[in-house]
Amino acid sequence: MDLLPAGKAILIVALCGRALAQSARRAGFAPIVLDRFADLDTRAVAACALKIPPGRTGPLASQALLRAARTLAPPPIPLLVGGGLEGRLAVLAALARGRELLGNPPEIVARAVDPFALQDLCRALAVPFPETRADLPPERSGWLIKRRGAGGGWHVRPAETVARLHPRDYVQKRVPGRPVSVLLLGDGSRSRALLASEQWNTGTPPHFKGVLAPAPLPPGQVQNLARAAAAVGTALALRGLASADFLLADDGQFHLLEINPRPGGSLEAAERALGVNLVQLHCAGCRGRLPPTPPEPEAGFAGTAIVRADRDLVVPEGFDWPEWAGDRTPPGARVRKGQPLATVRAQAAEADVVRALLVERERLLLAQLEPTPVRRRREARMEGVGP
Ligand SMILES: Nc1ncnc2c1ncn2[C@@H]1O[C@H](COP(=O)(O)OP(=O)(O)O)[C@@H](O)[C@H]1O
Ligand SMILES: [Mg+2]
Repeated sequence: MDLLPAGKAILIVALCGRALAQSARRAGFAPIVLDRFADLDTRAVAACALKIPPGRTGPLASQALLRAARTLAPPPIPLLVGGGLEGRLAVLAALARGRELLGNPPEIVARAVDPFALQDLCRALAVPFPETRADLPPERSGWLIKRRGAGGGWHVRPAETVARLHPRDYVQKRVPGRPVSVLLLGDGSRSRALLASEQWNTGTPPHFKGVLAPAPLPPGQVQNLARAAAAVGTALALRGLASADFLLADDGQFHLLEINPRPGGSLEAAERALGVNLVQLHCAGCRGRLPPTPPEPEAGFAGTAIVRADRDLVVPEGFDWPEWAGDRTPPGARVRKGQPLATVRAQAAEADVVRALLVERERLLLAQLEPTPVRRRREARMEGVGP
């Protein structure tokens, strides 16, 4: 921490700021990171990293976040925002006051994340978007309830399972397909598609698990998604990196589901697949500059997958993290079953090899964190349930 500050200070605020912080450091910045985790590898590249507790209505408690930003990264240090603030426009505005916002201003975010505004825009641009309404239909089957400003898939529920709508809920027709996300780069007037990535979900409700970039799809399908994403991004006047999440059916039909008007979960895989520095491109885009020729994916595939604890656990002091593990939970922090523990990454010439490596590395990591029999006995004694 003390050895690193050389570079231009930048404030990074996100649910998980690690991938952004690493990219920012490689771009020559000295990141000050405020996120939920302050993981070991975030701290390793940050001039300063602080864990912000969850809030009542969002992933980051607003007062703690604003206080930390004021003291650790006062204006005019520029602000780069990742995922987690879409539903918190007043917080975004307060954070950005007096400094350059490397991202989209609150009024643009508000329009991008409003499903009804997006539905209207998609209709005007002839981009397929699932039928969306504000109230529950009389016949619930085939409809989903989703929450404005929420993310990660946790909020998506079948309409049959919901008794009453929350004020931020909306109702959307279920459409077929697998998740594919298009990474966009905008300069405030034009948006360009950089790359499509395959995404996958897990669990109930299905939530975000991993990314493979580039998505192994026929070029024609990628072009269709890229064209639709760029048209919507341009109409929204997005700045910097953003993503357009689609569902793509086997026959090539697709629907746009949402726009994430900031860099998100595909950043690390996309950066590896493209072989460029995405924070650098993001900052240039936010300052009105797009690269003359967009980066092309290099040969091969890159993937990342979130590993959640398979039981309540604590990472032991001195744990030897494999080099393919990121978002490394610091020792001593309690990780409850189902909470994020780390991210595994893989890169290979074949998409299937990347997918298999991610599964294998998740298994290996969880196995390495199994308590040894000696430690288990000692823990049991300390809890007063052992011999
Ligand atoms: N209209 C829909 N039809 C079918 N599945 C959907 C629909 N909307 C969301 N989903 C499922 O929920 C996941 C997350 O949806 P998304 O709109 O991208 O919200 P989030 O902000 O949580 O990422 C999608 O990948 C998909 O699996
Ligand atoms: Mg999404």
